[in-house]
Amino acid sequence: MIRISLLALIMTAFTMPLYAQDAASELGQKTFKKRCAVCHNPLTAQRKIGPGLQGVFGREAESGIGKLTEARLHEWLLNPKALKLNTRMPKYGPMQDAETRQAVIDYLKTL
Ligand code: HEC
Repeated sequence: MIRISLLALIMTAFTMPLYAQDAASELGQKTFKKRCAVCHNPLTAQRKIGPGLQGVFGREAESGIGKLTEARLHEWLLNPKALKLNTRMPKYGPMQDAETRQAVIDYLKTL
């Protein structure tokens, strides 16, 4: 009995971070589909209303806001107009939440 619960404990310890990670990447992907996909192709570089976002992380921005590093993406998603006054990309409520924003950026890294 003790051996079984010990095993369960060890298994929980190993699988917990995995669950947390899955939840975060699911949040990123879900948010992207809901809030960003209307204007951005995630899987091609082809423009929709905004630039295609394939390979977006770390590349030079088409919108002229510099290299799309982690820090720059945080600034951009938090408030696009702060970086480019006349941009057509709107500011989003959900992007004001640090956890959601980070999840979306982590998702962008996978494109
Ligand atoms: C209403 C359309 C629209 C929505 C929705 C939108 N964007 Fe954008 N996005 C744009 C436009 C337009 C640009 C180009 C900005 C410019 O040139 O001023 C842009 C630019 C970007 C860029 C910079 C790409 C580059 O090469 O310059 C990133 C990254 C980006 N958007 C991510 C997102 C994410 C993530 C979301 C969802 C939270 C999102 N966008 C939602 C329209 C949109």
